[in-house]
Amino acid sequence: MRRHLIAGLLNWALSFGTVRCVPSGSGIRLGQSHDAVRRSSQTDPVSNITRDFEVASPVQIPSHGVCATQQLMVHSFGSSYGTPFVGAYTPPSCDFNSVVISFTATSSGVQYDRLAMMYLSDTEVWRTSTAEPTRAGIIWTYTKDMSAYLSLWEKPQTIIFELDNIVNNVYTGPFNTTLTATFFTADKPPPKADLILPISSRQGSVGKQSVFNIPADNATVVYTIPDHVTRATVSISANGQINEEFWYTNVFTSQVDTFKDAVGTLVGGGPFREIQLLIDGHLAGVVWPFPVIFTGGVAPGFWRPIVNIQAFDLAESEIDITPFLPLLLDGKPHSFTISVLQLADSKGNGTPTLTEVESFWLATGKIFLFYGTEKTPRPASHALPKITGVDPTISISSSITSFPNGTNSSLTYTTTANRALTISSPYGSWKQTLSYTNTGELTSRGFVQTNTQSTHGTQSAVNTHAPAFNQDLTFDYPITVTTTYEINPKGGIRIDASLSTGLSFRDSGRPDISPYSLVSGPASLNTLQQGTGHYSSVANASYSFGTTEQTFAKTSYGSMYRRDVNAANGTVVQDSLGVPTVGGRPPVLDPVRGAFDGPRGFIGRGPGSPWKGL
Ligand SMILES: *[C@@H]1O[C@H](CO)[C@@H](O)[C@H](O)[C@H]1NC(C)=O
Ligand SMILES: *[C@@H]1O[C@H](CO)[C@@H](O)[C@H](O)[C@H]1NC(C)=O
Ligand SMILES: *[C@@H]1O[C@H](CO)[C@@H](O)[C@H](O)[C@H]1NC(C)=O
Ligand SMILES: *[C@@H]1O[C@H](CO)[C@@H](O)[C@H](O)[C@H]1NC(C)=O
Ligand SMILES: *[C@@H]1O[C@H](CO)[C@@H](O)[C@H](O)[C@H]1NC(C)=O
Ligand SMILES: *[C@@H]1O[C@H](CO)[C@@H](O)[C@H](O)[C@H]1NC(C)=O
Ligand SMILES: *[C@@H]1O[C@H](CO)[C@@H](O)[C@H](O)[C@H]1NC(C)=O
Repeated sequence: MRRHLIAGLLNWALSFGTVRCVPSGSGIRLGQSHDAVRRSSQTDPVSNITRDFEVASPVQIPSHGVCATQQLMVHSFGSSYGTPFVGAYTPPSCDFNSVVISFTATSSGVQYDRLAMMYLSDTEVWRTSTAEPTRAGIIWTYTKDMSAYLSLWEKPQTIIFELDNIVNNVYTGPFNTTLTATFFTADKPPPKADLILPISSRQGSVGKQSVFNIPADNATVVYTIPDHVTRATVSISANGQINEEFWYTNVFTSQVDTFKDAVGTLVGGGPFREIQLLIDGHLAGVVWPFPVIFTGGVAPGFWRPIVNIQAFDLAESEIDITPFLPLLLDGKPHSFTISVLQLADSKGNGTPTLTEVESFWLATGKIFLFYGTEKTPRPASHALPKITGVDPTISISSSITSFPNGTNSSLTYTTTANRALTISSPYGSWKQTLSYTNTGELTSRGFVQTNTQSTHGTQSAVNTHAPAFNQDLTFDYPITVTTTYEINPKGGIRIDASLSTGLSFRDSGRPDISPYSLVSGPASLNTLQQGTGHYSSVANASYSFGTTEQTFAKTSYGSMYRRDVNAANGTVVQDSLGVPTVGGRPPVLDPVRGAFDGPRGFIGRGPGSPWKGL
């Protein structure tokens, strides 16, 4: 997976002497989830271990009703490519209706950010990523309500946790992890899906992860759906890696060589992606992905200790497929396919169509089925729902300016996309209205790039036989990112970056827990991160620093959680939660070891070799 900027290179570990193992009470303890989240904002003054965190509403575990706590994993991910942690899970013998997991990881030394996925057998239940270590060490804890997957937790499962890492004499940081689950009885538990079917490659029985790599894999599963289902949804987890990690900054394919002499070939495919769910080849819904930035992304100085929105919990988007139930309840097998699309090349202007993405989207889905009662009517016909708005409206334009000597100096490119998809049948309706714009500008022969993107959507589900599950969701996720880089003729590179990225949604809510809002019932979120990040490497030494300001307000379960927090140069300097304010620190200055072979491996353009997939 290409990482734009590799904090691993920035933090060469001089010694492990000061590294501490996970302190025995740092995992979540009952009733203390709030504290665990609060504590996470501080640098431990004695050990200097950085406590990284994603700003998120704390997950509460009631102090009464706890039935059991199980350790699901204690594992050090060293050279772990293709070798996930595999463990057997047996449900506790006591009664429970809710499950919360807590994951704690430590690392020290040099390492990339890594993507990780947790599965219950064939079903992905959590997609996360790692923070990047410092020489003194880092620790973070993330707590997640897993009650939506109760029907899986009620049965024995294979726990598969994939965190592909490399440890060698350059990349020295393993990720030492613990994962625990707390099982409890909530007084008013939200309703849960009766059956959850994975849209995955279903490799759990051979101890492997089950992610589809699109387009290499045919991301299709075939199921026969039980006939007493009244409501069905699909959630999709998908993100791009390598050339697709920063898809929203990619240029149109026909323009990748605009600055070939100055910065080499750019990454193509254009800046728009659509993930489609197809049932028997018919469009059932779409996802316009959220641009999550991992902790080495753009400039690592942004992401310590505050990580990007969703970096520790990549949200799953939902598609209500209830209108397909008349078709699906015919007792016959039906196929469910996830596909990821990009812009077909249209020479930088016009109205391109969509075509299969060129590379590396990691995707899985889940079908959540809710059963009715014996009295629930069966469909009168097994007809396909009425589907309108299958094709989006997309339009692009671009312009290139050049110097009098013919060398290209700048490229400006714009993409707009809109769609209004409606699917309806006697079982209900599903509507999605989406709009998107992206303006990219490369100036100074490609050394300066800015992309400004906005994605706005509304979606609504009407369920004839389960009207309590009718839902309206509106969301917005704007992002502006600017990167300027310079090559030092004596070797090394300097990067100055700024970004602003936000997520807001307003969800009318449903009784069950949504894998998107992470809660049951109405919810709204407003969060914005803004910052500047700098990276510089000169002969054998590099440093990074930066500032990140985040505002966060989430209303759920009838109350608002608010946190406004600022970090500078690796330390929290202001926090509305009231943790002690400490002064900013000078930049992290560490000797670099390991071959630095140019910016290409960092930001995907410029001289040097592409990132080699470590
Ligand atoms: C991680 O685990 C490895 C192997 O058990 C151990 O050698 C190392 O000291 C641990 N590192 C941290 C930061 O706990
Ligand atoms: C923590 O950092 C401070 C300031 O850089 C330094 O003086 C102190 O020695 C460090 N403590 C440890 C245990 O490394
Ligand atoms: C993908 O798999 C499905 C189900 O096995 C099959 O029907 C379909 O033809 C396959 N598609 C491709 C492109 O191989
Ligand atoms: C200028 O950009 C165009 C379009 O990408 C490209 O075909 C051409 O080769 C570029 N010119 C030079 C001199 O690099
Ligand atoms: C063309 O002119 C620009 C601007 O003066 C300069 O940066 C570039 O190096 C020139 N290219 C060539 C091939 O001389
Ligand atoms: C950089 O490190 C290499 C290998 O350790 C060494 O040979 C070289 O002299 C160093 N360069 C500078 C400018 O310190
Ligand atoms: C972070 O480090 C930079 C570079 O030394 C410095 O200019 C800046 O003032 C520092 N920021 C804080 C808040 O200390």
